[in-house]
Amino acid sequence: MNRTHTCNALSSKNVDQRVILSGWVNSRRDLGGLIFIDLRDRDGITQLVINPENASDAAETCRPVREEWVLTACGTVCARPDDMINKKVRTGEIEINVESIVVENKSKPMPYHFNDVQASDDLRLKYRYLEMRKTTLGSYLRLRHDITKHIRDYFDSNGFIEVETPVLSKSTPEGARDYLVPSRIFPGEFFALPQAPQQYKQILMVGGIERYFQIAHCFRDEDLRADRQPEFTQIDVEMSFITEEDIYELVEGLMAAIFREIKKTDIETPFPRLSHHEAISKYGSDKPDTRFEMLLHDLSSIVTSSNFQVFKNVISDGGKVMAFNAKGLNSIASRKKIDQWNDVVKLMKAKGLAYLKFEENGDIKSPIAKFLSKDEIQQITELLGATPGDIVLIVADKFMTAAEALGRLRIEIAEKNGLIPENVYNFLWVNKFPLLGFDETEGSYIPIHHPFTSPITDEISILDSDPGKVKAQAYDVVLNGVELGGGSIRIHNVELQHRMFEILNIPDSEIKSKFGHLLEALAFGAPPHGGLAIGFDRLVMLLTGATSIRDVIAFPKTTKSSCLLMDSPSPVSPSQLKELGIKLNPQ
Ligand code: AMO
Ligand code: AMP
Repeated sequence: MNRTHTCNALSSKNVDQRVILSGWVNSRRDLGGLIFIDLRDRDGITQLVINPENASDAAETCRPVREEWVLTACGTVCARPDDMINKKVRTGEIEINVESIVVENKSKPMPYHFNDVQASDDLRLKYRYLEMRKTTLGSYLRLRHDITKHIRDYFDSNGFIEVETPVLSKSTPEGARDYLVPSRIFPGEFFALPQAPQQYKQILMVGGIERYFQIAHCFRDEDLRADRQPEFTQIDVEMSFITEEDIYELVEGLMAAIFREIKKTDIETPFPRLSHHEAISKYGSDKPDTRFEMLLHDLSSIVTSSNFQVFKNVISDGGKVMAFNAKGLNSIASRKKIDQWNDVVKLMKAKGLAYLKFEENGDIKSPIAKFLSKDEIQQITELLGATPGDIVLIVADKFMTAAEALGRLRIEIAEKNGLIPENVYNFLWVNKFPLLGFDETEGSYIPIHHPFTSPITDEISILDSDPGKVKAQAYDVVLNGVELGGGSIRIHNVELQHRMFEILNIPDSEIKSKFGHLLEALAFGAPPHGGLAIGFDRLVMLLTGATSIRDVIAFPKTTKSSCLLMDSPSPVSPSQLKELGIKLNPQ
């Protein structure tokens, strides 16, 4: 028996039709006489009714049937009595009066209850196929497919071609540890799985491809969080003969198309832009969530000569006194709450949190008020727009530490107090990143984006004298406080690329062995080029409202980077190891 309809297709229009449906038993009620079965397939649910009086064989077949058994049923579509109509399902006006039924397969009892939030993540990952069948995961995967299709259409209509780049590759530095694959033919040598197709896509530009995109798998052995997986997907893009402006326009167009198709809403373009410095100064983050206020302010000039030793010392050491106004939240700021907030900033390496409570009667309560003059308090009040009922939170430290600690606290307070509006999508660009950071433990510069990123042209001249001051032609696209994607204009001049490796303290021999191929390609007429990569899993997560990218990936890894479904990684046979020339250290 082949099904004639899906379980979401029938309505009162089909009454009296003979149909065949297949699917899984969502639920089964045996009311002594009548048996009711909700049959489910990937599209929906339809109610079957088996009446032993006119279908005794079918009723007999159904007696032992349990949840998740697989059935095919043949019967007639009947209208339900008015008081039995189920408005919650699309097929709720009808039911199928079953004549015959076949059990296609039995099922073991379910290992856990799917709507039980207590069910352990480990169980959910081990039985991923059941999650797919029974929870929103299945619909998320469908949505993911739809988005993929719109992405391919968008790039195709803009003259891009999709090129697949190798998975057995060579290490490309994107800041994480590599996954390595031993070579059998070259004992002792390894492929690296790509952290991103960065060097390949640049080489495609040298190859004259001009407009490349790929829905690309990337692999990074790094510590995992809700928005990080060791294996994830990028919408990877590279273009020749372009400027930053072209990338902004391309990505804004892509996001507008996806939101129009998937969310049926128009997003506002062009996206606002913030320099990296502005983002840190105002939001304490390089991926600001602009859906709510509580912006940071710099109090340093007001409190330079205050009597509070902590502020004085920090400022004279070149640090900053930063603050934000938690508007209207004085009433929740108990001693215990302030201690919790203190812990938040301390986790971000700040030394402490000072505060000014603006009481309803006009008083200001604060352990540091006695160190501040009337005039200083007045200036702080004005700068932060503080009124009775507010609490101003202050951190003094190195600029980055103070800003990032308050930035973290700002998010924490907004999340815990429901200050973040729902169904709002705030995109923005963060640009003008520093080109380099200084790694204190290594005692050398490291790239903030990656070593192929071009400095801002006007600043190339100070690259030798003051590398730490140089800004990059790099940009991130941010959505609701999540770094959605990032990229840069690349270095296409071979001498500048070589100089960049030297500034990063990479020895000559290593430049040759790791990047010789790229330098060589750049020397053969590389066009000016640039691009970016968007975290596809993060995009789907934000579009579905899921809280982790794990919820939108068919087969994700655990926080320890293992797969519970396949039970991998797993040991291999001694003969496989021998073939690869690998001897395991018993420890
Ligand atoms: P970057 O390293 O910034 O840039 O990565 C681009 C985007 O990929 C997503 N992403 C991740 N998503 C899930 N799990 C992870 N572990 C993970 N790591 C990164 C983020 C991020 O913004 N080659 C450059 C791009 C370029 O310069 O064109 C690159 O990979 O959303
Ligand atoms: P102390 O002098 O350590 O007793 O601190 C007095 C108050 O200042 C306490 O509320 C501390 O949390 C706060 N405090 C200490 N160090 C800092 C700092 N670097 N920035 C802001 N507040 C601080």
